[in-house]
Amino acid sequence: MNKNEIFKRLEGIRNLPTLPSVIEKLGRAVRDPKSDAPRIARIIEDDPSMMARILKVVNSAMYCASEPITSLSIAVARMGMVAINNIALSTSVFSTYSKASQSDFNREEFWRHCICTGIAVNILYDRCAATLGQRYEKDVLHLAGLLHDIGKIVFETYFHADFMSAIQMSHEQHVPLFQVELEVIGADHAQVGAWLGKRWNLSEDLIETIRWHHEPENAAESRQGIAMLCHAANYICNLVKIGESGDAVAPAFFRGVWKRLGVEVDEISTIMDQVREESKKSEILLSLV
Ligand SMILES: [Fe+2]
Ligand SMILES: [Fe+2]
Repeated sequence: MNKNEIFKRLEGIRNLPTLPSVIEKLGRAVRDPKSDAPRIARIIEDDPSMMARILKVVNSAMYCASEPITSLSIAVARMGMVAINNIALSTSVFSTYSKASQSDFNREEFWRHCICTGIAVNILYDRCAATLGQRYEKDVLHLAGLLHDIGKIVFETYFHADFMSAIQMSHEQHVPLFQVELEVIGADHAQVGAWLGKRWNLSEDLIETIRWHHEPENAAESRQGIAMLCHAANYICNLVKIGESGDAVAPAFFRGVWKRLGVEVDEISTIMDQVREESKKSEILLSLV
């Protein structure tokens, strides 16, 4: 199949998971300059299961709240509309794609890898912000890491046999999975993930990062910062071996990327320790999977 045929086939899938309608509503409200915290809280409260998930996350070790946050309006007032919107988005992705299919692909380990990448993006950003000279919100960075490999779930669900043989070939031939996907399926998980991101109306920052997480230098100039952070974070998470992304070959080490981030090679092991430490706090997210 060529790329166009793949996207045509995906467009034709009727039950392709969509994010809950509340996410759409929430996104619109957050972009509306007239919105306030009570309006955002009301939208979420209309979906009790989402409300419960968000409260669980904001009260977890990840956010170190000084005292328990008991209502959505307090959560929005304290953390801001954009942060709550992004937490809603990440918990929705988990619940949309949580159920392991009858597959040999281990979704729990896959999400562990993605959560680890989200954490590593933030740790790297804390070190590189000054060098990068671009400002990003923490929750956007976390989402970028969380979603970078989302295309693999699309493949696993709709191109199952081909995806599993791509994984096997990647292991046997020691070739990066995305390259084997191009050969076996006709598109790679970065392209398909970006396509899904567009359908979900994710921000351009996120779509571009998903699209170029293996080749960040190809991202649009204004988005190279976040794409490089995600690329480097993915690299780190493969080294610390938290989770399992399905890829047999460690991501390529692009010296130029690390140079532009201002990270020296001998700093990588300290960053790995930090990622291991921070990852312990994120077990709450896995409990939503
Ligand atoms: Fe990837
Ligand atoms: Fe990855």
